[in-house]
Amino acid sequence: MENEELHTVGWIFLQNIEYEHGRASIGILIAPESRGKGYAGAAMRKMIDIGFKQLRLNKIYLTTRGINEQAIGLYQKTGFVIEGQLRNHAYSDGRYYDTYIMGILASEWKD
Ligand SMILES: CC(C)(COP(=O)(O)OP(=O)(O)OC[C@H]1O[C@@H](n2cnc3c(N)ncnc32)[C@H](O)[C@@H]1OP(=O)(O)O)[C@@H](O)C(=O)NCCC(=O)NCCS
Repeated sequence: MENEELHTVGWIFLQNIEYEHGRASIGILIAPESRGKGYAGAAMRKMIDIGFKQLRLNKIYLTTRGINEQAIGLYQKTGFVIEGQLRNHAYSDGRYYDTYIMGILASEWKD
């Protein structure tokens, strides 16, 4: 254990917390070398649980680009559903991509 270095695997955060509406947005970033090991799924479940049970939110939401298949896969597996689609909303590498608004309600959260 002594020789093991601690390193940051990534970040996860709730922001835009608006208690009068019972909502917050969520964001996540996992370091490239640490992806595909289940860290994002575990972190999302923990953070959503804090949002609904400790902060007593009613809704957690996010936006993501249609090009980001890993993120959309992660969010759908965690229980988020697509609530809206902004067409041609982001430009990257010579073309436009849709942006998705996704959300999960406290009543839908089963952990
Ligand atoms: C999206 C991101 C957070 C996923 O992190 P990760 O640690 O690799 O994800 P996990 O290993 O916990 O995988 C959780 C689920 O995500 C989905 N997923 C992960 N990689 C995927 C891929 N390449 N294709 C499709 N779905 C994928 C799967 O549903 C997966 O569950 P499964 O392994 O049981 O199938 C990571 O790729 C990342 O940080 N990307 C850059 C930042 C970013 O895009 N953030 C989101 C902005 S909206």
